[in-house]
Amino acid sequence: MENLIKIGKSEVTSKKIGLGTNKVGGHNIFPDLKDEDGYAVVKEAIDQGITTLDTAYMYGNGRSEEIIGDVIQNYDRQKLIIATKAAQNPEKDGQVDNSPEFLKKSVDLALKRLKTDYLDIFYIHFPDETTHKDEAVKTLAEFKKAGKIKAIGVSNFSLEQLQEANKDGLVDIVEDNYSLVHRDAEKELFPYLRKNDISFVPYFPLASGLLTGKYGVADAKKFDQFTKAQFSDIIAALGVVHKIANKLDATVAQVMIAWYMKNPDISIVIPGARKAAQVDQNAKAMNLELRNSDYHAIDEAFSEFA
Ligand SMILES: NC(=O)c1ccc[n+]([C@@H]2O[C@H](COP(=O)([O-])OP(=O)(O)OC[C@H]3O[C@@H](n4cnc5c(N)ncnc54)[C@H](OP(=O)(O)O)[C@@H]3O)[C@@H](O)[C@H]2O)c1
Repeated sequence: MENLIKIGKSEVTSKKIGLGTNKVGGHNIFPDLKDEDGYAVVKEAIDQGITTLDTAYMYGNGRSEEIIGDVIQNYDRQKLIIATKAAQNPEKDGQVDNSPEFLKKSVDLALKRLKTDYLDIFYIHFPDETTHKDEAVKTLAEFKKAGKIKAIGVSNFSLEQLQEANKDGLVDIVEDNYSLVHRDAEKELFPYLRKNDISFVPYFPLASGLLTGKYGVADAKKFDQFTKAQFSDIIAALGVVHKIANKLDATVAQVMIAWYMKNPDISIVIPGARKAAQVDQNAKAMNLELRNSDYHAIDEAFSEFA
């Protein structure tokens, strides 16, 4: 199923499934990671036909980009879609910085770490408090014109900040927190993106593993963003997904990923992975197309979070 989607107004096209790589070299966020697992995760993804890789400077302060840069040397660069992000300025104690000078430096350093001469997508990872968002995006438009980046993205912007960033219609893609248990984006963000031809990538699509079905009611404490009642509702809703997964001889994670792939508001789903075996499992969702009835049953099961 070679179903490619176009990213915003750019010339970039991607499969609907990619790889999230905050557990590839992201030692500063997840302390017990091994580099060798990160290498294996990226290699497994590409070998399984996942060609879009989502990374960021923040994942290991460049280490994730370096690992990806090493692995992709053995593959055809033109077949890969590399997305990265920056905002934390290491020269200012990691303070968020959207200034043109910092963005320029960030893109150049990311290119070096990734050992490539262009980025398919570059996101401003977080908004700062001072830079006018349309000015920051205009800087990225210059990089696009120069061929250093191919699509302009923003992440973690409020709708108001996004509107300012997209004043000249230059934003191609937005990456934000969205999953079946975190559906705020459906209300105002999705209609704005649809209207403005901006693609959407949800982060935490598996709710950090919760939506793989590997946790039960007893694990409520690990997910303290939910009340006890919400957590047991999620486990109950996952029961619906389990049934569909059994019927399709698939795993819960695969059915979840297939749900995002069928959702017209979602451009690329980028489940993260700690181990190559997880990628191996998740990649198989590429060949899983949900029936409308199963898609709607899952939508309904998680409607409390809409
Ligand atoms: N723009 C932003 O600000 C931002 C913020 C966060 C993330 N992101 C991006 O979004 C990507 C996705 O988010 P995420 O990785 O944090 O969360 P996620 O995709 O919701 O969950 C991924 C985690 O679930 C577990 N998992 C994955 N597949 C599994 C399987 N088949 N069976 C069992 N467990 C499985 C793994 O963790 P364990 O094995 O440890 O359970 C994995 O690391 C990130 O990798 C990153 O690229 C962007």
